[in-house]
Amino acid sequence: MLVDRFGRSIDYLRLSVTDRCDLRCSYCIPKGFRGFEEPQDWLTFDEIERLLAVFVRLGTRRVRLTGGEPLLRRNLPQLAGRLSALPGLQDLSLSTNATQLGKHAGALRAAGVDRINVSLDSLDRACMQQITGRDSLQPILDGLMAGKAAGFDPIKINMVAMRGVNDGQIEDMAAFCIEQQFMLRLIEAMPMGATGRNAQYMPLADVRERLIARFGLVAQAQELGGGPARYLATPDGRASIGFITPMSQHFCASCNRVRLSVDGTLYLCLGQEEKFEFGPMLRAGASDAELEMAIRTAIELKPQQHDFNTQPHKIVRFMAQTGG
Ligand code: GTP
Ligand code: 5AD
Ligand code: SF4
Repeated sequence: MLVDRFGRSIDYLRLSVTDRCDLRCSYCIPKGFRGFEEPQDWLTFDEIERLLAVFVRLGTRRVRLTGGEPLLRRNLPQLAGRLSALPGLQDLSLSTNATQLGKHAGALRAAGVDRINVSLDSLDRACMQQITGRDSLQPILDGLMAGKAAGFDPIKINMVAMRGVNDGQIEDMAAFCIEQQFMLRLIEAMPMGATGRNAQYMPLADVRERLIARFGLVAQAQELGGGPARYLATPDGRASIGFITPMSQHFCASCNRVRLSVDGTLYLCLGQEEKFEFGPMLRAGASDAELEMAIRTAIELKPQQHDFNTQPHKIVRFMAQTGG
């Protein structure tokens, strides 16, 4: 079991398998960001599997594949299969923008991916074009439906709420998700990198009240997922809506996670700089015992909480680089 200095059990690893993406969401990736070749310092599948096996032996129970857009990493289902086979891992999930999901949904399920979360910020084509920098709505909806057809259930939809951008479309999205049995999660934008700082952060308290009034939402009886969302349910209990409020009501006291980026850097907190680099160790032929010790040392570095509210310009790395 990995426990940090503040008594939190760290059993959730978010693994960014690429920092590349086919979209350019305004809050996530800088406009000029390029890159086609896989850099030399990216962890290979062998290195990822080796390091994660040690994490899982130390008590990691959940792994989420993320990015960038994880489905742009070549042969991702193969990696998923190798990770889902690690003895002791209970939950392997994927966060994706879904543009490529139609191609991979079946293979991902066969490889043992348990759950998927899809990023979708609007159902309006022009609005999606504005947010993602591409005409992305239809490919995303196609991918989403392919995911559903492949049997992923429930599928969560992540919608970053931005004042003056998509805040007028939250009710439409909620109605769509309730009808389709997707679990909507509304997210407050965090000031990650220069791009995240431009996002029009809005606290979700008012939205929550609006949705309660419109859909008659009630308290959610059981705990859902392994993440920071707080959920409400529809009166018939068939659909839920989650609220992820890192800015207005943060959840750092119950944080259970760390993030491994594609170059092997373990970031201990989304909103702080503490990190530990595993790439050089792996390449220098570190033993399992050495990796184990390094992981324990790294977990000791985990800070208590982010300070996005008091130091909004502190984090210069952007979201896709850290792993969303
Ligand atoms: P499950 O509940 O297990 O499905 O996962 P999750 O909600 O942790 O995963 P997801 O990738 O869908 O995360 C949703 C969003 O919550 C992220 O994109 C972030 O915006 C936010 N989030 C997730 N983890 C953290 C965290 O450790 N700190 C902060 N501040 N925000 C987080
Ligand atoms: N603030 C909040 N959420 C973000 N995401 C990406 N960038 C930000 C940000 N600056 C979310 C995306 C995706 C998830 C993995 O991360 O919406 O669903
Ligand atoms: Fe890509 Fe996801 Fe960032 Fe959008 S939020 S640019 S889909 S990594």
